[in-house]
Amino acid sequence: MRTLIRHGHCVLPAGIVEVDLLLENGRILGIDPPAGTAADETIDATGLHVLPGVIDDQVHFRDPGLTHKEDLRTGSLACAKGGVTTFLEMPNTTPATITQQALEEKLALAAGKCAVNYGFYIGATPENAGELKQAHRTPGIKIFIGSSTGNLLVDDQQALEQIFAETTLPICAHCEDEATVRANRERLAGGTSFADHSKIRDHAAAVISTRRAIDLAHRHQHRFHVLHVSTADELEFIRDHRGLITAEVCPHHLLFQIDDYERLGSLVQMNPSIKTAKDNAALWEALRDGTIQVLATDHAPHTLEEKQQPWPKAPSGLPAVENSLALMLDASRRGECTLEQIVQRMCTAPARVWDIVNKGQIVEGYDADLVLVDLEREHTIRNQEQVTKCGWSPWDGVTLTGCPVRTIVGGQTVYQNQDGRNVFDEAFRGTEAVYDHGRGGHWAE
Ligand code: DOR
Repeated sequence: MRTLIRHGHCVLPAGIVEVDLLLENGRILGIDPPAGTAADETIDATGLHVLPGVIDDQVHFRDPGLTHKEDLRTGSLACAKGGVTTFLEMPNTTPATITQQALEEKLALAAGKCAVNYGFYIGATPENAGELKQAHRTPGIKIFIGSSTGNLLVDDQQALEQIFAETTLPICAHCEDEATVRANRERLAGGTSFADHSKIRDHAAAVISTRRAIDLAHRHQHRFHVLHVSTADELEFIRDHRGLITAEVCPHHLLFQIDDYERLGSLVQMNPSIKTAKDNAALWEALRDGTIQVLATDHAPHTLEEKQQPWPKAPSGLPAVENSLALMLDASRRGECTLEQIVQRMCTAPARVWDIVNKGQIVEGYDADLVLVDLEREHTIRNQEQVTKCGWSPWDGVTLTGCPVRTIVGGQTVYQNQDGRNVFDEAFRGTEAVYDHGRGGHWAE
């Protein structure tokens, strides 16, 4: 099967150029193929931009175990709608993904269900260093150095030292200091406001924990990725260790601030908590200047019923995977970043951080995972149109300019926005991401 994408503005590593793309057998066969090249299918991309498919390196799809919130089918369809062609999923499912066997069971489950490509982290516990050392078919190790949804937590210093000393896979972590959170929680017990969430999971909690994790990574010279950075102050340490340390930011930490609890309550309650306008500005700057390499969602669906419980009963987390690219395209219109930076942070860098083979760029020979976006199209996010099983978005009612209109995975169109209608290729199944962890060494742009 040969597909020709004609007249699109392609975001190539060297810049944005109007060129045709020829896809064959799931790969990008040619960039700017000779005039008259024959194909089985021709896609007219006039007026559209063609981007490498987004790689979201942090999602929670709740499968197995918590599938009333989301499952690998609904989560991956939400990816397709959002222009995400590969997702990397976190281990806090039930059971947690903390053994090679659990990892392989999840991979088998995904093979039958996923509308896009997939990969799964292995989770750390205080006792499973042996499993982590042997783990394979995974992008890397996830450590909850601070607790969040589920019961994965490694706070013990000796256990952390062992993981950083004895394992070789890249490590990422959720950094919020347990002792600080616990002390704040006791001090603020009895409160009734969701805004207390940001006082409990405060700046200090994030900064202390990120500093601790970076210290471990530095002493053990272990590649380390800081997930969902939420404060200006964490950026200092990340900058100081550029090369060994990479970092991620999420749309909600760029776009929401503590005043938003008044309007949105638990819908913007997540871990790490949202912070201040000053933090938003510093995170945008870090995303632009490359201190932060990756933008991902931490898509963490909970049902509205669960979210509607009063403080402090509502669970933390919000869904975002089907809107992240559109939110960023809209932000680029406001001058927050460029289209090239979006591609760098959402497509190219995640492939590099996690050693994913043949993805993240429009390059001959790479996988034909692509998203066509219309930078001019206006649309309003509506709860009732969300594909995620939880059926809501904290951005409900927000009108954006720019959105994905067609998502191609392995050369096949899996999603099209046809005059506002979502059309999916229900039969298509994505494939497991492949990693080349052999390269070792440090991050280099
Ligand atoms: O708010 C969050 N929710 N942060 C996390 O790190 C986990 C997530 C979840 O799984 O619900």
